[in-house]
Amino acid sequence: QSLGSLAKRLDLRFATAVDMAALADDAAYRQKVASEFSGVTAENVMKWEVLEPQRGVYDWEQADRLVAFARENRQTVRGHVLVWHNQLPAWLTEGNFSSQELRALLRRHIHETVRHFRGKVWHWDVVNEAFNEDGTLRDTIWLRNLGPGYIADAFRWAHEADPRVRLYYNDYNIENVNAKSDAVYDLVRSLRAQGVPIHGVGVQGHHTVGSDLASMQRNLQRFDDLGVETSVTEADVRMVMPADATKLQAQANVYSTMLESCLATPRCTSFTVWGFTDKYSWVPGWFDGEGAANILDENFQPKPAYHALRTDL
Ligand code: XIL
Repeated sequence: QSLGSLAKRLDLRFATAVDMAALADDAAYRQKVASEFSGVTAENVMKWEVLEPQRGVYDWEQADRLVAFARENRQTVRGHVLVWHNQLPAWLTEGNFSSQELRALLRRHIHETVRHFRGKVWHWDVVNEAFNEDGTLRDTIWLRNLGPGYIADAFRWAHEADPRVRLYYNDYNIENVNAKSDAVYDLVRSLRAQGVPIHGVGVQGHHTVGSDLASMQRNLQRFDDLGVETSVTEADVRMVMPADATKLQAQANVYSTMLESCLATPRCTSFTVWGFTDKYSWVPGWFDGEGAANILDENFQPKPAYHALRTDL
């Protein structure tokens, strides 16, 4: 039984982010994606810099390849991501556009992208990482030029382009009850009150072996009580290298707490790991001296975290 099929009996999608270069070049990787998971997220190929490398020139090829792969393997697709401050094309960030032009560009980007994948994507991460840790809005190209209303507008534009797709707000460090998740909570409540189409909150789940997730379940539950879905969208649990048995067990516990929190929340619809093998991971490139964040090792052998997650299902 795979993680995907075990989770399905609990009405949960168990998914992974996919590295398209690995999917093309590494048969063992491809085989694992197909057999172990019931959903996929594009790790990079649905980001704006990939989809529109030059102004008005779209490149859907890699994203379409992932969507086709998911279809062949009966997997759901989480679209990631429409509005973010990272991985934007240089023509956009360096283009000296007016605020009015940026608003039109964002609207068009959302319309074109959501329309392209209409009927093929289950969830969209509409807005990603809009808050600072203290709960204030992050200073980004979008806040500076469009004002705080860009968030509501983004959800409305996405809904116009595909009225059936589930629309998510997504962020990191919002697993627990804290200042940042309080701000997301207030945002979601106010968007719902205004009739803005938002259906879910994604908690990314990037953690370390020392992370304390004591209030995660309570936090997911308060979003559930607001009437929105929740998902764990990018789980990984890094450690200072080298790995040892103690750290691997602590890692298993953090993964487990995230999955158990989701399972205890009625409308927690998916649990996605941000890659599944230490052979391909963003962690060593982004966190100095850290690694081994995934549930299989570099040789695709299960780590304690893999066994712990199976036991939870
Ligand atoms: C990361 C990818 O994993 C890397 O390959 C890329 O170089 C940078 O972005 N939060 C997100 C993801 O929402 O899109 C990020 O993915 C990780 C943090």
